[in-house]
Amino acid sequence: MADEPLVLGIETSCDETGVGIVRGTTLLADAVASSVDTHARFGGVVPEIASRAHLEAMVPTIERALKTAGISARDLDGIAVTAGPGLAGALLVGVSAAKAYAYALNKPLYGVNHLASHICVDQLEHGPLPEPTMALLVSGGHSSLLLAPDITADVRPMGATIDDAAGEAFDKIARVLDLGFPGGPVIDRLAKEGDPKAIAFPRGLSGSRDPAYDFSFSGLKTAVARWIEAKRNAGEEVPVRDVAASFQEAVVDVLTRKAVRACKDEGVDHLMIGGGVAANSRLRALAQERCEKAGIRLRVPRPGLCTDNGAMVAALGAEMVARNRPASDLDLSADSSLPVTDPHVPGAGHSHDHDHVHEVSKENLYP
Ligand code: KG4
Ligand code: ZN
Repeated sequence: MADEPLVLGIETSCDETGVGIVRGTTLLADAVASSVDTHARFGGVVPEIASRAHLEAMVPTIERALKTAGISARDLDGIAVTAGPGLAGALLVGVSAAKAYAYALNKPLYGVNHLASHICVDQLEHGPLPEPTMALLVSGGHSSLLLAPDITADVRPMGATIDDAAGEAFDKIARVLDLGFPGGPVIDRLAKEGDPKAIAFPRGLSGSRDPAYDFSFSGLKTAVARWIEAKRNAGEEVPVRDVAASFQEAVVDVLTRKAVRACKDEGVDHLMIGGGVAANSRLRALAQERCEKAGIRLRVPRPGLCTDNGAMVAALGAEMVARNRPASDLDLSADSSLPVTDPHVPGAGHSHDHDHVHEVSKENLYP
């Protein structure tokens, strides 16, 4: 519908420079420039390199998204940007760019939460989110179970990892197996040819007295690394496919069991899975199986919308506009540890009608 908010979203919290454009819950453009290859030889994301890459990619990626969407920046109803959580320097590049465009175009600015964006993105694929939605967010930086009665204003943490994030565990095990970075996709691929029952790796925090919704992957990581080392020390060949499959099974078994349990306990009949690890084929399959059994509807966006992108930020921004949430101020700061309970960073006042800007002719600031 033409009267739905047209919003551009900018994402720079890690190593992806993402710019998305949505109209309401319709995706018009999703441009992503990744610096992942530059980090690969370091085995992880190097913050300074990521910031520099964002700076170089920002304007071309915005231009590309506008062109794909076939719109002019003047048509936008708002500019949304990831205000946090994430790498401080990387976030700063996106926030600065968003402020510059918002100022130059005299459009409202919405600093939004990266985690809430990972949930909201599913609206682009499966329509409006049911309220409440239970969300399992699993990425390289986060593993959380979140209850979202209203994605623009009310997101409640149910549980989270007490050590490594799920994606981080994939990346570390891939490193031990010399499979390169990032580890998730390659382990996913190799696991398809392995036996998930070959090795009984531990399921973290799964005892009856353990917290029901928290996760722990560091013990699993150590167990897998020790198992591989023992094989190597004995001069035996490491069955990489079986290790990959058994490790992956341990991760997704715990993730899906706890997520389904949270839904049941809270009486929520929808589970959403987001974040880079949601691209995992076994996680998707097992979640589907367990949700069906429990009478829960599963919503998982396609893999390209699970990993970091700008469309998810635009999706949440559009929802903020649609629900008349207050815009952010033009002095919005990046907050590397923005709490998950803050879906966005509302301004103190009337930020988007920055009348003083009219003194300078904005027509000259943006062609
Ligand atoms: O959401 P994302 O793109 O960035 C962060 O916010 O962290 O997630 C990246 C993480 C990496 O740890 C990567 O190994 C993992 O997602 N990942 C996967 C798969 N694809 C990406 N993990 C398991 N299976 C996959 N297919
Ligand atoms: Zn992410």
